[in-house]
Amino acid sequence: MSATTEPPHGRIDRADGDDPDGDRTRASSTGTVLSAADWLDDHFEACRDAYEAMAAAAGFETGSRVIDLGSGTGIFTPLLRRAVGTRGQVAAVDIDLENLRHVRRHDASAQALVGSALAIPVRDGAFDGLWAANLTQSLDDAALEAALREMMRVVRPGGLVAIKDVDMAAFRFSPASPFLGPHLAEACATATPVAAESVGSVRGRDLRRWLHRAGLVDTSQRTFVIEYPGALEGSALRLWGSWLPYLAALAEAKGVPVADLETWRQVASPQDARAFVSRPDFHGSEVQVVALGRVP
Ligand SMILES: C[S@@+](CC[C@H](N)C(=O)[O-])C[C@H]1O[C@@H](n2cnc3c(N)ncnc32)[C@H](O)[C@@H]1O
Repeated sequence: MSATTEPPHGRIDRADGDDPDGDRTRASSTGTVLSAADWLDDHFEACRDAYEAMAAAAGFETGSRVIDLGSGTGIFTPLLRRAVGTRGQVAAVDIDLENLRHVRRHDASAQALVGSALAIPVRDGAFDGLWAANLTQSLDDAALEAALREMMRVVRPGGLVAIKDVDMAAFRFSPASPFLGPHLAEACATATPVAAESVGSVRGRDLRRWLHRAGLVDTSQRTFVIEYPGALEGSALRLWGSWLPYLAALAEAKGVPVADLETWRQVASPQDARAFVSRPDFHGSEVQVVALGRVP
């Protein structure tokens, strides 16, 4: 088991419109897309209320030991701490040391462990619960099966597994065709070779069935729609100002209908994307799911 020993990091503060190269959707150093620390911060801040509701929906109990798997920078650790209290225990696990170095700026008492979801570096049954937010989107089907086995190994019988993830097939923004999101999701998921995240990011509303098939019991799921009414500002402006160019580049590469490309080309650069989402008549939305199950 390897733990980080880095000192707490300061907050990353930026003014709106920073990052002119729009590179904040870059992968983390181990290659997971949309996992750079500043992207994760922006996404969390832009939908903080919904993320708080999602973490609360997991229902972790006071005093319990919870692992935050695929923690990234540990953005969710304060919400898990809020649930388990000071008597509880929160451990952040991520494959990416660079992200993990930020964990203690979010929760000074969280433990930070470098490790893979496919070989979680803790002993059997060591935790009462497990939270995995936006991790399964980067796993292909075989890796998700293996990760679910690991989650069930490290959570004690009766303990709770909570997985939060996205359904990019339901991604939408206006003014634009309602089918941009579904077309792009389909083009990515049917490409050859297919990227793990292209499959993982449309799995959201199927997660309860995955938990059930893995052998978890009392499975359930809740769907959350996050709305972004224009004109976007602050973290939402930064988020969409880099998210849309990332998706526009995917649309060009994966072969969406030609009519869709006309819109994607209007948001292909960070400057154009920021102008687009700054319109008062802009409206974006994304769909996120929290799926729950208990270890038998
Ligand atoms: C999109 S980020 C989500 C971070 C955080 N949970 C959040 O919601 O803000 C995905 C994280 O999962 C980590 N990750 C990807 N594959 C992993 C694996 N096989 N094992 C452990 N962590 C992994 C990445 O390094 C990244 O930090």
